[in-house]
Amino acid sequence: MTDIKDILNRLCDGRDLTREEIISLLENRTPEIQSFLAEKASAVARSHYGNKVYVRGLIEFTNYCKNDCYYCGIRCSNRNADRYRLTEEDILGCASYGYDLGFRTIVLQGGEDAYYKDDMIVRIIKAIKNEHPDCAVTLSIGEKSYESYKAFYDAGADRYLLRHETADFDHYAKLHPANLSPGNRQQCLFNLKKIGFQTGAGFMVGSPYQTNENIADDLLFLKKLDPEMIGIGPFIPHQDTPFKDMPAGGLDLTLYLLSIIRLMLPTVLLPATTALGTINPRGRELGILAGANVIMPNLSPVGVRKKYALYDNKICTGEEAAECMNCLKHRVESIGYEIVTDRGDNVRYKRA
Ligand code: SAM
Ligand code: FES
Repeated sequence: MTDIKDILNRLCDGRDLTREEIISLLENRTPEIQSFLAEKASAVARSHYGNKVYVRGLIEFTNYCKNDCYYCGIRCSNRNADRYRLTEEDILGCASYGYDLGFRTIVLQGGEDAYYKDDMIVRIIKAIKNEHPDCAVTLSIGEKSYESYKAFYDAGADRYLLRHETADFDHYAKLHPANLSPGNRQQCLFNLKKIGFQTGAGFMVGSPYQTNENIADDLLFLKKLDPEMIGIGPFIPHQDTPFKDMPAGGLDLTLYLLSIIRLMLPTVLLPATTALGTINPRGRELGILAGANVIMPNLSPVGVRKKYALYDNKICTGEEAAECMNCLKHRVESIGYEIVTDRGDNVRYKRA
């Protein structure tokens, strides 16, 4: 078996690791190795993006969802969820408010809600691009057909976030009902890349039943897909789901994985997620110091914030977006970084 020092050197030199080597890296995590990798990873992030942190204005426009993922608070069988939908006017209003605050990426995220037909999404994308041509539009609205994705791209959408959730099909079946197929989800990701989207995949850290072998397979899947963005954050239980009594994912493991991902895919756009800020008050700052370079504050109207509850105790549900921007500016500056008004594309990306 390769010595852990050897594995660390190979990772830091940008060389590929085998599945066994990744598992060994996960099994041998110590505070020393973790801070060594955080140092290396944040240096790699700075070599590509300087001390810039990109912000994305997140509009959570619907919490209706036809799916029933066992971990998610907006799953269709949660009768306690207080459902809402934003109108097109609401969404465009949020986007303009975000633009005025300095956001140059608008993320439209929602449950899989058939109310928003493709032509409506197309109209919203076109309207945002028309009003704010220097803004990137990111979609995060789940699994759709190739044709739908193509229509969104042709309307001007730039990026698409679709976490693969777990690369192991047996593990996937423990997190989702049988009608959801991991193969289809992965095919969606390859379709998005083929169409030309800056594509984001990812997974929850510490999701129920996750093993180190599963995480190794997730990292190898990400390496193969080679996405422009990767979203990882801790699993956090929601009180009205079958996983309500499962433990949340850990801070240290999440930070460790952020560093490993930064070293494996050096230019990737990597958020320090709201879930990370929820399990630890300095989670997002620590995420940046571990190699992350993106933060996604909420732009949704304060009145609906609490209703988009994927997990319990989500932060920033009472603050206005302007307050979050101020708060984040100070947080980011306190660790020697700066929030920039910039689209923040992946440095290696060019739209065809
Ligand atoms: N419907 C879209 C989709 O499926 O990609 C976007 C919304 S979905 C709710 C966004 C992400 O939230 C999921 O990919 C999942 O990884 C994450 N998520 C859901 N429940 C969570 C929980 N309990 N803890 C942490 N993250 C969670
Ligand atoms: Fe929302 Fe700090 S980021 S209050």
